[in-house]
Amino acid sequence: MYESDVINEESERTAFRKAEKKYKIYYDNTKKKKVPKPVDTSEVVDFSSILDKYNCNGEVGEGVSVLKCDFDRPVFCLDSRPGFYFIPGALSVEEQCHWIRESLLSFPQPPNRTNHNAMYGPIEDLFISAEEGKVLVSEERPLDRVDLETIVSKSDPGWKFVEESNRKNACNSVSASVLLRKLRWSTLGLQFDWSKRNYNVSLPHKKIPDALCQLAKRMAGPAMPCGEEFQPEAAIVNYFGIGDMLGGHLDDMEKDWSKPIVSMSLGCKAIFLLGEKSREHLPIAMFLRSGDVVLMAGEARECFHGVPRIFTDAENAEISHLESQFSDLPYLDYIRTSRININIRQVY
Ligand code: SIN
Repeated sequence: MYESDVINEESERTAFRKAEKKYKIYYDNTKKKKVPKPVDTSEVVDFSSILDKYNCNGEVGEGVSVLKCDFDRPVFCLDSRPGFYFIPGALSVEEQCHWIRESLLSFPQPPNRTNHNAMYGPIEDLFISAEEGKVLVSEERPLDRVDLETIVSKSDPGWKFVEESNRKNACNSVSASVLLRKLRWSTLGLQFDWSKRNYNVSLPHKKIPDALCQLAKRMAGPAMPCGEEFQPEAAIVNYFGIGDMLGGHLDDMEKDWSKPIVSMSLGCKAIFLLGEKSREHLPIAMFLRSGDVVLMAGEARECFHGVPRIFTDAENAEISHLESQFSDLPYLDYIRTSRININIRQVY
């Protein structure tokens, strides 16, 4: 996962890394405004076009097949990557809006952890505070007797949201809007410990919300072993802003790889790289759009994968369908230049 964003010299030369470099964003320094250099996407597999073609004449093209199952939409497979399934447009526009809202409003709420925990401890109401223009401040408190007895002052620096006008009284401060832009992940259900790369069942946690469980169970269906039902126990929500990428990695900390990871895309279009067991193999690049669902089970669980690029410009983001649905401007403002990925796992 994120640890693999750290790229050493040797991995710089692998086929996977070369593909990451091919698709990552580079800016044209000759222009005054930050303009991304054009990227050649002619080799990127486009399942939306494949779906259109399939709906039109029943053909899918070389290397792609349609899974025979009773899912209510076509489920595509790649012949060279058994256990990988792509369901274009699996989520309705209403579902996409709902899960974007939840990802911003509810999922980062404690006891769920986020990347901000390490620095600030649990933060409540990040999205609302950003909307209200609030600022997270730490007030250095003199050690009083209670502090000394409970030794809380060192471990609890007392970060809290205040009005911008109160910022001047604080020793340290950071705007909620900055923190929202720097939100990189939140974890639901069993909490993933990034430092140890495993699930820490002793960390306080809430169950994954029932509606998300039901959705994940339904989506997982095409990839599940016959007669078994997917049991969502943990989810990682990834937030991507302008220029963000997710380096090649494996999701291998779950016990039973016959169960899929259910991965849902929301917001701006992205390029997803699906490699093989080694980074030495050339990955397949494909577009991920808002509403697409990917399942990775069995052999595909052993494949390196990552997201080298998201498209945040109006022309390429392909989120116009969300514009009319969000009556609440702050969500639309966020998602116009962001992507959210919710990936749901059965851990045991
Ligand atoms: C992941 O592989 O963990 C996330 C993939 C995605 O963002 O689509």
